[in-house]
Amino acid sequence: MILLIITVIMLKNRSIISISDLSDEEINEIFSQADKMLENLETGRKMNIMSSKILATLFFEPSTRTRLSFESSMERLGGSVISMADSKTSSASKGETLADTIRIVESYSDIIVIRHPLEGAALLASRFSSKPVINAGDGSGEHPTQTLIDLYTIKKELGEINGKTITIVGDLKYGRTVHSLLSALSRYNVKVNLVSPENLSLPRHVYSEVKGKLDLNTTTDITKYLSDTDILYVTRIQKERFTDKNEYAKLIGSYRISLNDVEKLKSGAIILHPLPRVDEISPEVDNTKTAKYFKQAYYGVPIRMALISMIAGD
Ligand code: NCD
Repeated sequence: MILLIITVIMLKNRSIISISDLSDEEINEIFSQADKMLENLETGRKMNIMSSKILATLFFEPSTRTRLSFESSMERLGGSVISMADSKTSSASKGETLADTIRIVESYSDIIVIRHPLEGAALLASRFSSKPVINAGDGSGEHPTQTLIDLYTIKKELGEINGKTITIVGDLKYGRTVHSLLSALSRYNVKVNLVSPENLSLPRHVYSEVKGKLDLNTTTDITKYLSDTDILYVTRIQKERFTDKNEYAKLIGSYRISLNDVEKLKSGAIILHPLPRVDEISPEVDNTKTAKYFKQAYYGVPIRMALISMIAGD
């Protein structure tokens, strides 16, 4: 009990820019708070623990799930939301710097969620804000709250993370969810298979961070590790990060998970995807019991409710 109180206090007013900002104990505490939030959501019990607080969402890049689930989470906690969902209609389009935008928004809110096309933008925002900042994706950098959702889904669906084999497929170079996920997985006793076209392999800095800590295999062949896989984590090729659109055109469709692939997976395996999906999972897979990506998106709400209340609650 004493430990629990200390952990809750530890997250208070803290910015979350990278998954490495959170200790193992803090991640576990977020999961147990998320369990409570989930119970409240499912019993329809009203929560009014953030009624005096305002969450600001600043999205300089497209988003559906992340922005709406942060906003829904704050509303479900009884708090309020102010939102800049389209940077074209904000003063950023007049040339305002991110630092100035943050200086203003921090005076209008109690917690700021930011998504930006530039790696490092969330860190910069946190340096100009006295209010906590949550990174909801900075270019090809990180997406720590997606990783919390990914890990939580594995725990809910498979009971355990330790001992599992995770095969990560797709755009390992530009996929920020992959970068945060790998960093988090390196704390567990897991086997990881990385599957990508050669020119979309992991950035060197991510590879060197995790290579000594994980049992890691690399391949371009999607079929190679399917029978050994407990969690198939599929990602979209990040079109918006390509400077050469011809290069993207060559890579789109590199992998498309079909029913045939699903049959090859280890018994009891699950398929995750941070979404949005383009064509990397065939829609007929949605009706199999392996498909957990919509459930994963749903878990975004209890996880973000837990995080917001632990950071900005009274
Ligand atoms: C991801 C992102 O924005 O990095 N989406 C999300 O937040 N669920 C993945 C993606 O866009 O491919």
